Amino acid sequence: EKGGWSSFMAKEISEEPEAIAKTILGRVSDGLVHVPELDALGDDVLRGIDRVLIIACGTAAYAGLVGKYAIEQWARVPVDVELAHEFRYRDPVLSTSTLVISVSQSGETMDTLMAVKFAREAGARTLSICNTQGATIPRESDAVIYTHAGPEVAVASTKAFVAQITAMYLFGLQLAQARATLDDETVRGLVAELQEVPEKLTKVLEVGDRIRELAHWMADTRSVLFLGRHVGYPVALEGALKLKELAYIHAEGFAAGELKHGPIALIEPGQVVFVIVPSPRDERSLHAKVVSNIQEIRARGARVIAIAEEGDVAVLPHADEVIRIPLASPFFEPLLAVVPLHIFGMELAAAKGLDVDQPRNLAKSVTVE
Ligand code: F6R
Repeated sequence: EKGGWSSFMAKEISEEPEAIAKTILGRVSDGLVHVPELDALGDDVLRGIDRVLIIACGTAAYAGLVGKYAIEQWARVPVDVELAHEFRYRDPVLSTSTLVISVSQSGETMDTLMAVKFAREAGARTLSICNTQGATIPRESDAVIYTHAGPEVAVASTKAFVAQITAMYLFGLQLAQARATLDDETVRGLVAELQEVPEKLTKVLEVGDRIRELAHWMADTRSVLFLGRHVGYPVALEGALKLKELAYIHAEGFAAGELKHGPIALIEPGQVVFVIVPSPRDERSLHAKVVSNIQEIRARGARVIAIAEEGDVAVLPHADEVIRIPLASPFFEPLLAVVPLHIFGMELAAAKGLDVDQPRNLAKSVTVE
């Protein structure tokens, strides 16, 4: 039931902090990660993996992309992300030391299911990240990490997305523990930060009214671009997908570093561009690079809406609007930065008078290839 909310989507966005908290619950012990369901694979298998392949579709694939960055950095295993339907119909190289992780809210997506079956037959180990108890994909996999986002009714995925990213982080940290690529203190620090995310996200939800105003003045906008780097890149892709499916407007997400390799030609006066700004505390100097991207597009007349950390004043002179997110380590920023974009997609669709729970031509679970 909608329980007083204007739509299931509004209700489910409000449940994003809880979806993260519930996905962590029961999986931390003595400050370290222990996902009991991973016992089905065993530490020997985790230690023996020499490659991880993440397969999924749509929003779930973007969660997988965040997972790639985290698992590679923490567990030092090469990770690739592939759309399930592309993976299945080429001739991929797999071995018994490949772990194929499928990500699916419904657990019934036919493209993903076919890819899992194919991977199993080819001898790979399979792990499912799934939100639906007893669904087909987890039943076809060697092990499953359930996301505990609760039932998701709105067609556009929101709370399941943040829960999927959370499950990816838990997996990445447990893998790092098994492979001893991170010391216990580092893992404990990351786990503690992850546990703080739900509370921070509750604060982020307060930007709802401001975003509704933005969406109202943008109701006639025909195209919106999204830029991000590192784990902000999948967030940009997710923001764009939500606008396409909910508000039926053309939207593209780009890795900010690609801008000068083509997309900057799209920038003309009035073009709305959302930019997910990495933390200025990030030691890789990505912040400076993204701020310079903002200057470049602003100089060409773009209207820039920056999603930036509290206290990041460097963006102020260059952005038309700044949406603030609380301080977090780089890996936890996507969980905070994506929620304003979920709200934006919903509010823009609502401003256009569209049905946000049931967009045209879409089904909640795509059970045909
Ligand atoms: C986007 C959306 C879809 C799904 C995709 C995979 O908002 O909902 O892109 O993410 O169809 O669905 P699952 O996760 O059920 O496999």
